[in-house]
Amino acid sequence: MALQVELIPTGEIIRVVHPHRPCKLALGSDGVRVTMESALTARDRVGVQDFVLLENFTSEAAFIDNLRRRFRENLIYTYIGPVLVSVNPYRDLQIYSRQHMERYRGVSFYEVPPHLFAVADTVYRALRTERRDQAVMISGESGAGKTEATKRLLQFYAETCPAPERGGAVRDRLLQSNPVLEAFGNAKTLRNDNSSRFGKYMDVQFDFKGAPVGGHILSYLLEKSRVVHQNHGERNFHVFYQLLEGGEEETLRRLGLERNAQSYLYLVKGQCAKVSSINDKSDWKVVRKALTVIDFSEDEVEDLLSIVASVLHLGNIHFAADEDSNAQVTTENQLKYLTRLLGVEGSTLREALTHRKIIAKGEELLSPLNLEQAAYARDALAKAVYSRTFTWLVGKINRSLASKDAESPSWRSTTVLGLLDIYGFEVFQHNSFEQFCINYCNEKLQQLFIELTLKSEQEEYEAEGIAWEPVQYFNNKIICDLVEEKFKGIISILDEECLRPGEATDLTFLEKSEDTIKHHPHFLTHKLADQRTRKSLDRGEFRLLHYAGEVTYSVTGFLDKNNDLLFRNLKETMCSSKNPIMSQCFDRSELSDKKRPETVATQFKMSLLQLVEILKSKEPAYIRCIKPNDAKQPSRFDEVLVRHQVKYLGLMENLRVRRAGFAYRRKYEAFLQRYKSLCSETWPTWPGRPQDGVAVLVRHLGYKPEEYKMGRTKIFIRFPKTLFATEDALEVRRQSLATQIQATWRGYHWRQKFLRVKRSAICIQSWWRGTLGRRKAAKRKWAAETIRRLIRGFILRHAPRCPENAFFLDHVRTSFLFNLRRQLPQNVLDTSWPTPPPALREASELLRELCMKNMVWKYCRSISPEWKQQLQQKAVASEIFKGKKDNYPQSVPRLFISTRLGTDEISPKVLQALGSEPIQYAVPVVKYDRKGYKPRSRQLLLTPNAIIIVEDTKVKQRIDYANLTGISVSSLSDSLFVLHVQREDNKQKGDVVLQSDHVIETLTKTALSADRVNNININQGSITFAGGPGRDGIIDFTPGSELLIAKAKNGHLAVVAPRLNSR
Ligand SMILES: Nc1ncnc2c1ncn2[C@@H]1O[C@H](COP(=O)(O)OP(=O)(O)OP(=O)(O)O)[C@@H](O)[C@H]1O
Ligand SMILES: [Mg+2]
Repeated sequence: MALQVELIPTGEIIRVVHPHRPCKLALGSDGVRVTMESALTARDRVGVQDFVLLENFTSEAAFIDNLRRRFRENLIYTYIGPVLVSVNPYRDLQIYSRQHMERYRGVSFYEVPPHLFAVADTVYRALRTERRDQAVMISGESGAGKTEATKRLLQFYAETCPAPERGGAVRDRLLQSNPVLEAFGNAKTLRNDNSSRFGKYMDVQFDFKGAPVGGHILSYLLEKSRVVHQNHGERNFHVFYQLLEGGEEETLRRLGLERNAQSYLYLVKGQCAKVSSINDKSDWKVVRKALTVIDFSEDEVEDLLSIVASVLHLGNIHFAADEDSNAQVTTENQLKYLTRLLGVEGSTLREALTHRKIIAKGEELLSPLNLEQAAYARDALAKAVYSRTFTWLVGKINRSLASKDAESPSWRSTTVLGLLDIYGFEVFQHNSFEQFCINYCNEKLQQLFIELTLKSEQEEYEAEGIAWEPVQYFNNKIICDLVEEKFKGIISILDEECLRPGEATDLTFLEKSEDTIKHHPHFLTHKLADQRTRKSLDRGEFRLLHYAGEVTYSVTGFLDKNNDLLFRNLKETMCSSKNPIMSQCFDRSELSDKKRPETVATQFKMSLLQLVEILKSKEPAYIRCIKPNDAKQPSRFDEVLVRHQVKYLGLMENLRVRRAGFAYRRKYEAFLQRYKSLCSETWPTWPGRPQDGVAVLVRHLGYKPEEYKMGRTKIFIRFPKTLFATEDALEVRRQSLATQIQATWRGYHWRQKFLRVKRSAICIQSWWRGTLGRRKAAKRKWAAETIRRLIRGFILRHAPRCPENAFFLDHVRTSFLFNLRRQLPQNVLDTSWPTPPPALREASELLRELCMKNMVWKYCRSISPEWKQQLQQKAVASEIFKGKKDNYPQSVPRLFISTRLGTDEISPKVLQALGSEPIQYAVPVVKYDRKGYKPRSRQLLLTPNAIIIVEDTKVKQRIDYANLTGISVSSLSDSLFVLHVQREDNKQKGDVVLQSDHVIETLTKTALSADRVNNININQGSITFAGGPGRDGIIDFTPGSELLIAKAKNGHLAVVAPRLNSR
């Protein structure tokens, strides 16, 4: 495997280096330049990942431009120092996987690209190491992604934290509380299909080992008006639709419900019961399962569903006016179901819905309601029932989340992590009491935010010993006071109006406010405004100049909503409910309590103050959510909308505070760790204090004194450009370091490989040598054994066959036979034959015979007819002359020729004279006269019948074979011969003395033709021949040194033949 280094210039993208794709690491100077430039252009393209690094940090345009650039590249997270700004991508970016969680665990916040998990991990580590409670505040407009962020944070903790020793289910409960709360507290609005209609603060408790062991939820101001009314395009809370869509037939039947949202008046006000992005049926399954996880018994579920159903039935209760204009319930069926589901008396409920109980002077009076009042009472009951059930639900979840180990020692050492998911600033066309509360809440949180941010900044400067330069910022305390101050605050005035006897209305409240706070610079009404502003304000409106901008509120409904009145007899009826949840929600003590209950605004104010106290006691972290467009579309960045939110979230203010002195600060250790490679003195390790190392490093980098300050534990850098220059230098350095690392790694890798191969080779070698050695030893052993057996066998070779000599004898036999195969005679004349061992003598002889026969047979088969004739003639010659005539041996190697004269050498006349008689053999001869022994040249022809002696052109003598009585030759080496002819008459010329250079050949052929093989006489000394009538001639043969043929003085023919010593 090769080490693969991937440099990600901006550090924005988590990329897993593909093992099969080669890493394109820039090598060489060119490569480094290219990559470095890409890093710089990347910054241009994707902006800075921390707004404090914006050169022009006061410019809102630059801020939004940076957000836009990053959003375009799907980089939805950006920091403002420790604050995380998140832009809703409206699409799944696949950035919340387990792999991402691992990537952000335990790493330094600034070393990795901005991410929700980086915040989650930093908060968690601070919680564990410093053991301080933490709070993550998530804010933003509706639909900006607050709830999503909360869920992701919870998911991160559930998956990455260690499991508690006991009560591991708490993790599931923490996660499963969400769908239940969302079902009851979320609804589809125009801005968000899953809009949280309540504020939520959730505490997660961790034990000393960092495992989640419990949790607690606080809810704020549920938008209960939604139960009875929804704006066009919006829905009621999800649970109603989920129950109708997903509930089992049997359940619906029990609850008296129809599977049709259109049948319920409370569900159709917005005319949008069906939403494509929501699957109520499957959501219901999730909720049903979640209820079980968070400890709901079957009975409790049943009770809860009865309440949900009863709200729907309440919505369908109709009234008709009797003759006195008093309201009467007309929908008996609904009433019947309500009676059953809520466990109340039918008549009591009927009466409570149509009458109001007044206590005057200790007496209870029942006053009938008119139609309008009855409808109001009905809706008030529905809202009260639902909102109290929601509160009960939160309580129930809290009981389920409560650590079961509250008494154990570990409980005392728990730390708490709070998650605040609360509605952001809201500005609608018409803003009412709810928006007033929500925006007041945001003012409080903004105040806290600025206070804590400034405080932490100031504290940091102080701690680092750096002079604090005061920051100009807008303190919104003045607005908070305007709303919440005792006696003079809007809430106080509102409460006063609600409580005072007499005809108090929304308008009297407005007037009272105008009177009390007319000089407040952040409060305006139609009456208080100048001529120009007045046009934009109605008489029933007031305007608050919030820190984030102006919001105009309509006072209509303020008193009513603040009072949140539920008629006493309705309360009484509900207190008598047999439904256990209802009886918990409506407590009888409420009836006997003479004190008026707190108004909604005051309750909210108190809970906010409590929340602020909770948050103040914790280390805060912030997530500011922004939605990029109103259409819930991915990749659309609506600049106007974003600018609006940047303003409302106070982000510019936040940035200004953060950038008041220095753009960047970092712990010496972290700074040195990151940049130490840029200076040879600090690389690879700095032996001294990190602070000194940083001093050396910045001197080496050429920082000017005004560009930075050295604190106690941190370096502060004033301008982003200083940091960017350092970053760029680091980028270049990283390239060369990566190359070095690669080279070192490759070297190491290949060396390891080489060593492995070497070790393997040595192993194979030694194994092979061992094998060879063993083989050799075995062979030697075998050889010694064989030799020993052979010797023993040799010693006993003459003994009869026994085990001792059997091997030897067999060996001798087989080796003889094997040798024989190689030493067989090559031809019939080769008489060699290996000597056989005694035991094989007989076999050897047989083999030899066989071999010879075989060779002969082969020889005979290969012989040609001409050669056969030749051999036959040679055999005859041998028979006649062998050992008898001296020049015979010389003739043996010379082949007999079929004829020594061609027909062209024989006179045509002779041929003519012979007629049809064929010439079998012709040879030139010398004829010696019978008298003078003169040599004459002649031709001797053999025909089938006769010997013809030819002189040039004529036949001199014809000797028929019948007349040939014999042939005489000497035993010496001469070539004379005498043909003896029968003399029957005197005409016969007598015997013929001839000489042939090929005497053996000529005589053999003649003898064969004439069938005179046995008539050839080989004489010693002399031959007598018949020379003519009555006269014989004699030829004397004597051996001598040279051949000499001449007539001797005695009249004989003397022939001296050379001695050949052949006999
Ligand atoms: N990080 C994200 N990734 C993908 N989609 C997101 C992300 N954050 C939000 N969304 C989408 O935006 C929708 C609205 O988000 P969410 O419900 O969290 O808004 P909110 O701020 O809680 O609004 P409200 O104040 O109305 O409750 C989600 O349902 C989801 O579709
Ligand atoms: Mg939400």
